[in-house]
Amino acid sequence: MKKYNIAILGATGAVGQEMLKVLQERNFPVNNLKLLASKRSAGTVIEFNGKEYTIEETKEDSFENIDIVLCAAENDVSEKFTPIAVKAGAIVVDNSSAFRMREDVPLVIPEVNAEDVKNHNGIIANPNCSTTIALTAVNELNKYGKIKRMIVSTFQAVSGAGINGIKELEQQVKDISSGKEAKINTFQHQIAYNVIPQIGSFDEEGYSQEEMKLQIEGRKILHNPDLKVNCTCVRVPVYRSHSESITLETEKEITVEKAKELLSKAPGVKLIDDLDNSMYPMPLYASDQDLIYVGRVRKDISSENSLVLWCCGDQVRKGAATNAVQIAEVLVKENLV
Ligand code: A2P
Repeated sequence: MKKYNIAILGATGAVGQEMLKVLQERNFPVNNLKLLASKRSAGTVIEFNGKEYTIEETKEDSFENIDIVLCAAENDVSEKFTPIAVKAGAIVVDNSSAFRMREDVPLVIPEVNAEDVKNHNGIIANPNCSTTIALTAVNELNKYGKIKRMIVSTFQAVSGAGINGIKELEQQVKDISSGKEAKINTFQHQIAYNVIPQIGSFDEEGYSQEEMKLQIEGRKILHNPDLKVNCTCVRVPVYRSHSESITLETEKEITVEKAKELLSKAPGVKLIDDLDNSMYPMPLYASDQDLIYVGRVRKDISSENSLVLWCCGDQVRKGAATNAVQIAEVLVKENLV
C-alpha cells in the first residue's frame, strides 16, 4: 500500500496531539512524519507508532516533499504557512477558520459532503466544531426531508477554549472550595458553577461569530444557500464534548419514528434514546470517541414539519482532529494525492 509524507502543523497543541493519536488509531498509511510547531517547542520529542520524533520550528522550507499537511494551528499561523505549503506541492487540511469560506476551498464533513474534496485547489477546510457536530447529527434527516431552518443552542465545553479553559475551571473549583476568590482570565466571567452565554465577540445585531458559523458554514456544506440558522452559543463548566439542542424545520414532514430509523443508520451517529431508562447523550460519555450521540428525538409541539433533538460530540476529535484525518483518508481513497 502506498504511504504518504505527513506534516502536522501545530503538533504540540490540543488538536495537533489528537491528530497524532487518530492517525495511529486509524492506521493511516504514514511514510515520513514531520511535526511542526513554534520555535518554543522545537526539540521536544514525541512518540508516534513506537518511534521518536523531534518537533521542528515551522519555517518556509518545512513543507518540501510533504504530501499532506494537517494544520492544527491558529488562523494567523495557517494564513502564513498554508500558501507556502501548497506552493511546495502539499495538500493542506486546515482546521483553522482562515480559508473556510473561500470559494475555491471545499469545507468538508466526510459523512456529509465527501465528494466536495475533489474540487480542492490545495486547501481543504475543516468546519467549526459545533457545525461538524450538528451537521453530522442531522445529515440523514436533511437528505430525507431537506432542512429549511434550525434553531440551535450549544453547550460548549471549556476545552474548546484550549488548555487554559480547562485550567481555569479546575482552578476556580479548587479556589472556591477553599474559600478563595475565583480568578478570571480566559472567560468573560467565572465559569465554575456558572454558564456564560458568550463565545467570542458580538456583532451589531448581537450575535457572536461562533453563532453565525453554523448558518454560514452550514449553507456551504449542505449546498443550501437558503438554510436559516438561529444559534445561541453557551460556555458550560464541562471539560470536554459539546452538546447541542437542535430544532429543525424540514420541507417534507419527518415523523419521529422515521427520524429515529434514519438516525439509527446514519454514518458517524449513534442513537441513544431510551427515555424509560433515562438514556440520552451526555458530554461525559461522548468524550474521547468519534461518534456524534443523538437522542431526545421528538416532535416540535409548537410548529409543523419540525423536530427537536439533542446531540453531543467530542469537539477535539470529530469536531477537529478526526474530521481532518477522515478528509485525508478521502484524499487517499479517491487517489487525489
Ligand atoms: P507551540 O506549542 O510551539 O506554541 P493550541 O491552539 O492548542 O494552543 O495549539 C496551537 C499550535 O500552534 C501549537 O502546536 C503551537 O506551537 C502552534 N503554533 C503557535 N504559533 C506558531 C508559529 N508561529 N509557528 C508554528 N506553529 C505555531
